[in-house]
Amino acid sequence: MKILITGSAGQLGWELCQTIPPGCPWIIEAVDVDQLDITNESDVAGWMSRFKPDLVINAAAYTAVDRAESDSDQADRVNHLGAGCLARQATQVGARLIHVSTDFVFDGLQSHPYRPQDKPNPMSVYGRTKRAGEQAVIEATGGQALMIRTAWVYSAHGHNFPKTILRLLRQRPELGVVCDQIGTPTWAKGLAQAIWQAATKPELRGILHWTDAGACSWYDFAVAIQEEAEQCGLLAATATSIKPIGSEDYPLPASRPAYSVLDCRDSYRLLDRQPSHWRRSLRQMMTTATAGQLLVAI
Ligand SMILES: NC(=O)c1ccc[n+]([C@@H]2O[C@H](COP(=O)([O-])OP(=O)(O)OC[C@H]3O[C@@H](n4cnc5c(N)ncnc54)[C@H](OP(=O)(O)O)[C@@H]3O)[C@@H](O)[C@H]2O)c1
Repeated sequence: MKILITGSAGQLGWELCQTIPPGCPWIIEAVDVDQLDITNESDVAGWMSRFKPDLVINAAAYTAVDRAESDSDQADRVNHLGAGCLARQATQVGARLIHVSTDFVFDGLQSHPYRPQDKPNPMSVYGRTKRAGEQAVIEATGGQALMIRTAWVYSAHGHNFPKTILRLLRQRPELGVVCDQIGTPTWAKGLAQAIWQAATKPELRGILHWTDAGACSWYDFAVAIQEEAEQCGLLAATATSIKPIGSEDYPLPASRPAYSVLDCRDSYRLLDRQPSHWRRSLRQMMTTATAGQLLVAI
């Protein structure tokens, strides 16, 4: 099987490259925007006709949620039109597509986990462009693609909430973190492994949800990051106190869902894979990453 991974320099793309199942006979090409811009249809068509993949895994996206509010054309180009272009060109050469989407397609008004079939109602430009991307993928592939929605992704590689919190903990005596948005932190490594599992199941199509297990607020997540960092010696026992604050006390350009926990039971069953609890994943990520990866220069 020949596999093309797009967005390979991002968090998920990088973890996909790190977790290629050992001994697998697959031929894998992993490319980021400088080699393959998914919005450039003739380049995408060229890649497809030259490499002739059997499977395309789209880890490319515009993920700057707040910047997207003032840069909606580019967010739409990548998350909507780019996803559609990749889906169309993959279909042209008979390749299956695994596409990745987000919990931010939901409005967060629910108080129990969102199932894949629940009605999306995005609240931000990012969420709307990702939802439009899902629809474009369905249209271009006649519903044959597999889409995996995930949430609150972090990795030792790339930019993410744990690294921001570690930086702020080294800079500030006190930190306020939002306590009224609930979701599930998800280690990109576990997500990547789930995607590799999905790669071996060509019968899977439609929408699945995959996150680590459990749920918490950004405040809980920040406190856990501080505790784990102290435990593994990344931070000296710090005097920084983390305080819970409301979303209204931390206004951002993009609205976020207050509750975006995803119901992943179908995917755990279909992929025959149990997720780690988010707290265990966080510990594993922090104990296996190097300090250089986690502690971004202040
Ligand atoms: N991060 C999260 O918390 C989160 C939550 C829910 C769902 N997701 C979804 O999970 C997937 C992976 O996210 P991630 O966190 O790994 O994102 P990421 O770290 O931002 O990586 C995305 C990669 O795509 C590249 N890219 C941007 N525009 C491109 C284009 N036109 N053509 C090809 N590549 C392009 C980016 O390059 P540049 O960096 O140079 O732009 C980057 O290397 C995405 O579909 C995202 O929507 C993420």
